Amino acid sequence: MSAQIDHLLSETRQFPPSPEFAAQAVATAELYGQAKADREAFWGDQARNHVTWHKPFTRVLDWSTPPFAKWFDDGELNVAYNCLDRHVENGLGDRVAIYWEGEPGDERRITYAELTEEVKRTANMLAGLGIGQGDRVAIYLPMIPEAVISMLAVARLGAIHSVVFGGFSADSLRSRIDDAGAKVVITADGGYRKGRVSPLKPAVDLALSDHNGSGQQNTVEHVIVVRRGGNDVEWNSERDLWWHDVVPAASAEHEAEAFPAENPLFILYTSGTTGKPKGILHTSGGYLVQAAYTHRNVFDLHPESDVFWCTADIGWVTGHTYVTYGPLANGATQLMYEGTPETPHAGRWWELIQKYGVSIFYTAPTAIRAFMKTGRHIPQQYDLSSIRLLGSVGEPINPEAWMWYRDVIGADKAPIVDTWWQTETGAIMVSPLPGVTATKPGSAQTPLPGISIDVLDEAGAAVGNGNGGLLVITEPWPAMLRGVWGDPERFKETYWEKFAQQGYYFAGDGARLDHDGDLWLLGRVDDVMNVSGHRLSTAEIESALVAHESTAEAAVVGASDETTGQAVVAFVIIKESYLAEHSPEGLATQLRQWVGEQIGPIARPRDVYIVGELPKTRSGKIMRRLLRDVAEGREVGDTTTLADTAVMSVISAQVK
Ligand code: WT7
Repeated sequence: MSAQIDHLLSETRQFPPSPEFAAQAVATAELYGQAKADREAFWGDQARNHVTWHKPFTRVLDWSTPPFAKWFDDGELNVAYNCLDRHVENGLGDRVAIYWEGEPGDERRITYAELTEEVKRTANMLAGLGIGQGDRVAIYLPMIPEAVISMLAVARLGAIHSVVFGGFSADSLRSRIDDAGAKVVITADGGYRKGRVSPLKPAVDLALSDHNGSGQQNTVEHVIVVRRGGNDVEWNSERDLWWHDVVPAASAEHEAEAFPAENPLFILYTSGTTGKPKGILHTSGGYLVQAAYTHRNVFDLHPESDVFWCTADIGWVTGHTYVTYGPLANGATQLMYEGTPETPHAGRWWELIQKYGVSIFYTAPTAIRAFMKTGRHIPQQYDLSSIRLLGSVGEPINPEAWMWYRDVIGADKAPIVDTWWQTETGAIMVSPLPGVTATKPGSAQTPLPGISIDVLDEAGAAVGNGNGGLLVITEPWPAMLRGVWGDPERFKETYWEKFAQQGYYFAGDGARLDHDGDLWLLGRVDDVMNVSGHRLSTAEIESALVAHESTAEAAVVGASDETTGQAVVAFVIIKESYLAEHSPEGLATQLRQWVGEQIGPIARPRDVYIVGELPKTRSGKIMRRLLRDVAEGREVGDTTTLADTAVMSVISAQVK
């Protein structure tokens, strides 16, 4: 097997920042030089610029026992104080922290002063239930302000939150509660999704009942319930408390205590496609520093005038870092929206951008492609002129979607930042700097100042410009995970074993360096195909498929093949306007040819299946493993982590 990942696609467009944008930009090219000259001094400066320390640190990094890093470790801070009180003390109490809109259209507008008071009350309420430093609190809420308030109240007490995405089942919730040993769960009766109330409390009841098969006594003493959906709920009067009974009754006085920089802040279980959930552990000081630094520089945040909107749910790391901690540490004004993009109508998101004057918009390629599928006439009905910066995260963004995003949402002028990072990295690692970088459609481009990345072959040698291989992080970074909760061995094995000799972190992603040294992410290495001895990335072939005018979305897998080892098999969603006029067979033939022409015969799919949906995790990632099962004619494997478990039976039927 060849050690490198071959690369086939070439994209040469480039978009330098406009002089007007560059003139007012937060980030400057000097940052790269400063970080290069003295990386630790650079991070020390960022830590002092972005965070208020109750006790200043004297040491930036302790890397004496790798892979266990300590950042700013003799410093002390309170994370919630940094996100709240200090802004009020600085006279910004009347600034709106959160514009919230519910799916049915109800609104809340919360200033920094109000948010601070609410968090203080919630912290007092939790302290009254015995929550203190190091205790774990599970948060299982819809996208309502109480989600942010709960996270900050837990942080304020030096306790540890574990947010569990509201779309997860009772079983998933229970396994996360058990693994973390949570004492309190904060939930809601229900929340609005797709025009209906989707209940949450019943899942908590089920998770905590003895009937869920785990057999083990649970650790939960209290369940706090926010009234949101208005749906009927069962009540355990020994255990359950209504938020509206206990929070308003708690005192609004609460002094933020200082905790060591390495005090744990949260556990977040990764979406891992199989096996036992992996509790990624993050701590306070380093995480907050990188969250605030990246939020300010990558999104070019001008907190006095911008309205920031990150569409991620609070249950994912993107919601942690770019809904709660980054924006609030920077005193930003942001929009938070409860519902789904297409409810009650297909233009809902664009309507919200128009209504709130959103200037910085951060979303995922899967959402962008869904909008491409329904057509540009929908966003074009709204005034999106407030937008001045666009961001993308979660998957490689193919050039076609990037160009659409720029043209249709960004009026052909807003810079796009394609941000690469992971739950494990805690904050953005690779991204253009707006106002500095000339952007390339489809490339995340450059490690941020202070971050060191390389691309290696299987043997651990740098592949160099023009080649593809495995993405590694070569130096520790402030927001890095500090471990896997309760499992230090798993932490070492998963991330540090592959390149143990060099002491590098292996991210699990493939990437290529172009001739300028810019990074192009190629997808998870587990998904790389081997066709006649060539290692091909899913991302590039998918990109070529989506570049065809008929295609809305594509997923590619390698299926075993007698002649070529593996063969390329594509699953494709066709745009609505094309389906009516073309036969599936005709389209499949066209697309096979197209890929052959675009990137070469080696990548031409053996089979192209036209499907209505693709199997995705709840965070929108395509589960190629399941498509491989279909392509190889096997029984489809474990589908429990799918957002919609019915999708696979439809696809299997279509393929047959
Ligand atoms: C994986 C991490 C980071 C927050 C959301 C996902 C993929 C993420 C990009 C990007 C190409 C990307 C990687 C990574 N990914 N951003 N800009 N370009 N791929 O967090 O669930 O921990 O997933 O998402 O494969 O390893 P996550």
